[in-house]
Amino acid sequence: MTVLKVAILGFGTVGEGVYRIIQSHADELQKVIGKKVEVAACLVKNKQKARDIHENVLVTDDFEEILGLPQLDIVVEAIVGKEPTFTYLTKAIQRRCHIVTANKEMFAHHGNELLELAKEYHVSVGFEATVAGGIPVIQTLRQLLQVNRISKIQGILNGTSNFILTEMREKKQSFAESLLLAQRNGYAEADPTNDVEGFDAFYKTMILSRIAFGEEPDWLTVEREGITGITSELINAAEKLELRFKHVASVWKEGNRIIGSVKPVLVGKEHPFYHVEGVENAVNVHSDIVGRITLQGPGAGMFPTASAMIEDLVYVSVNQKDKRCFSQYQSQAKEQPDEFWLIHGIKGTVNSQITVIEEPVEGFFVIKAAKKELEHLALQHKAVRYFSILEFEKSLVGQFEINENSSIQTFIHI
Ligand SMILES: NC(=O)c1ccc[n+]([C@@H]2O[C@H](COP(=O)([O-])OP(=O)(O)OC[C@H]3O[C@@H](n4cnc5c(N)ncnc54)[C@H](OP(=O)(O)O)[C@@H]3O)[C@@H](O)[C@H]2O)c1
Repeated sequence: MTVLKVAILGFGTVGEGVYRIIQSHADELQKVIGKKVEVAACLVKNKQKARDIHENVLVTDDFEEILGLPQLDIVVEAIVGKEPTFTYLTKAIQRRCHIVTANKEMFAHHGNELLELAKEYHVSVGFEATVAGGIPVIQTLRQLLQVNRISKIQGILNGTSNFILTEMREKKQSFAESLLLAQRNGYAEADPTNDVEGFDAFYKTMILSRIAFGEEPDWLTVEREGITGITSELINAAEKLELRFKHVASVWKEGNRIIGSVKPVLVGKEHPFYHVEGVENAVNVHSDIVGRITLQGPGAGMFPTASAMIEDLVYVSVNQKDKRCFSQYQSQAKEQPDEFWLIHGIKGTVNSQITVIEEPVEGFFVIKAAKKELEHLALQHKAVRYFSILEFEKSLVGQFEINENSSIQTFIHI
């Protein structure tokens, strides 16, 4: 019987998960691939650490030893950081191995180069685990939405941030207390910057953009804000209005430009993200034929992430070609419509454009205005903070009434 030889780079949370699934689901893998899947080697940093790995498997800290194996078909990578990972995967492709990676930081920076190189060497690249853990969003975009024109993708892509926001709201805790709990539960790193400042979600958004639109926004133009500025006061005010803070990454097409943002926004009860709580992730894909679909599930953890990598292992081992073709359609470049906002930090009449008459919750106002008006306001009043409320129209029915007495519409919670 023919055998498929796999090397696993990194034997931490994710790498060990992949190793264990290859053992526990050997029959299923053999059935779908038509070959027995065998782990030939594992690359680690510290060879002295005790690990539950079969004695026939080469455990090494030297990648050259892995490249020198007599047979090597697939390299599965679950290391942290851009290097030496990118170098290892480049060498693996040049050895004509398929690759599967979970490393979003490396893939956001070097994904294009790896995909190009893989094309040249006639091998495949799996990167499902780089975005939203166990949710099959990449495969959905790559294989299942091939004719639909995607106009926008929005997602809760960072489980740590979502966990912290949920804890702050449900348990009335501060940001610091909720972060500490996330760290104790193993959801946040000792240095949580990547998660709570939005870098992790930013990398994932760039990967999604490439798969949905064939290109990325200019990184420097993407608005990126984490959740460190979200206070208990903001969360409580939003809750009184039956709104919830979510850290949402968005990428969409305007004309032939790709635009992205990663920031805290508010959602009402009718929005599919309202009930996405704790470490869960969710992704909304807006496209022209099917409309909006929402995928939701575990965004991280040993088995959800390893599950995505195992499905990729099957995908690359049958050497599937990407089917999605990027039609160069232009979406309509519209005048920026008015949006709904929760604003905080102004009192009374602030300018001729915005007169706030009612305060639904003391110091907080729900208004409808164009983004540029809010930006202008923020330039004049340093204390002003404003948060977009997604798809607010649906929440208006039966929950808010319009105050017509203002030069700008304000909304009062009924
Ligand atoms: N954890 C998740 O839920 C999750 C979800 C989605 C994506 N990811 C991504 O998956 C990757 C792995 O995450 P993880 O949570 O499994 O990390 P982890 O638990 O910290 O494990 C990292 C592994 O990589 C090994 N390693 C580190 N540097 C190395 C080097 N220079 N050469 C060889 N081996 C090296 C470590 O070896 P030692 O064991 O010897 O220290 C360890 O086994 C990351 O890129 C992460 O962003 C993780």
